[in-house]
Amino acid sequence: MSQGNKEYLLGANHSEFERLQFQHSVWRTTTNNFLDRLGVSKGWHCLDVGAGPGFVSIDLRERVDKTGSVTALEPSPLFLDHLAHFVQKNNWGNVHLIRSTVEETVLPQQQYDLIFARWVIAFVAHPENFFLKLLASLKPGGIIAFQDYYYEGLSLYPRGGAFDRMADAVRGYYRTVEGDPYITGKMPEWFRRHGMTLVDYSPHIYSGGPTSAIFEWAHRFFSTHIQQMVDKKAMTQSQGDAMLADWMEHRKNPDALFFSPVVVDVAGRKE
Ligand SMILES: C[S@@+](CC[C@H](N)C(=O)[O-])C[C@H]1O[C@@H](n2cnc3c(N)ncnc32)[C@H](O)[C@@H]1O
Repeated sequence: MSQGNKEYLLGANHSEFERLQFQHSVWRTTTNNFLDRLGVSKGWHCLDVGAGPGFVSIDLRERVDKTGSVTALEPSPLFLDHLAHFVQKNNWGNVHLIRSTVEETVLPQQQYDLIFARWVIAFVAHPENFFLKLLASLKPGGIIAFQDYYYEGLSLYPRGGAFDRMADAVRGYYRTVEGDPYITGKMPEWFRRHGMTLVDYSPHIYSGGPTSAIFEWAHRFFSTHIQQMVDKKAMTQSQGDAMLADWMEHRKNPDALFFSPVVVDVAGRKE
């Protein structure tokens, strides 16, 4: 699957599908609280960008009900098929699917009340162009909202093992596709330069022990992606092996704590 001319870093396959599904169960409340603060409700017309299997698109459809609409834009046929089946089963006439990347599609101008993208723009090579293309599709008065990383804060306690260097390795992993692990840091400046009003900037960091959902969320990422980081040369094999061993040791320690990287809710209004 192309993304501009790059592959989606984490892969569009069944194991990523399952990881995204579990991820949604862990982060859904955070996303819903953000959508509540933005006032997303009946009658809104929404674009869910990089929708994946459509977990947020489905939640958006519940909010906007019959009088609004949701368009899910997603390049992976595997992911989009999941949403297509769900939409068909529920006989929803107001959920539309676009199988494409942002870069490769033509979007309607000034169409949407809300444009939303969770964990997408950090993977994109030219994020300001990506943002501007979306902005042209937003109605005046509409909201563009991102949930994405400011990739600090990731850690395991007790400290002192190989995993202490993991945040650096993940940042390097994003940069292998010219992504930006600090992407949410850029957004207030974009909004100011393009005459928008920043309406929300809320960082989140979660923590929990080995039996917590947040620890399991991280486990599903690191147990797969440490080897992929090695393969993409974001770290050496011996660093990867040492980090995985450190992770598994902490996972067996009932007193260990995992701290998530910072995820920021960022929203701007088009004036
Ligand atoms: C980490 S997943 C997040 C999926 C969904 N937003 C969620 O939160 O469950 C990133 C998604 O962005 C999609 N994606 C990556 N690059 C994209 C692009 N340039 N345009 C549109 N979608 C893209 C991928 O195919 C993948 O489904």
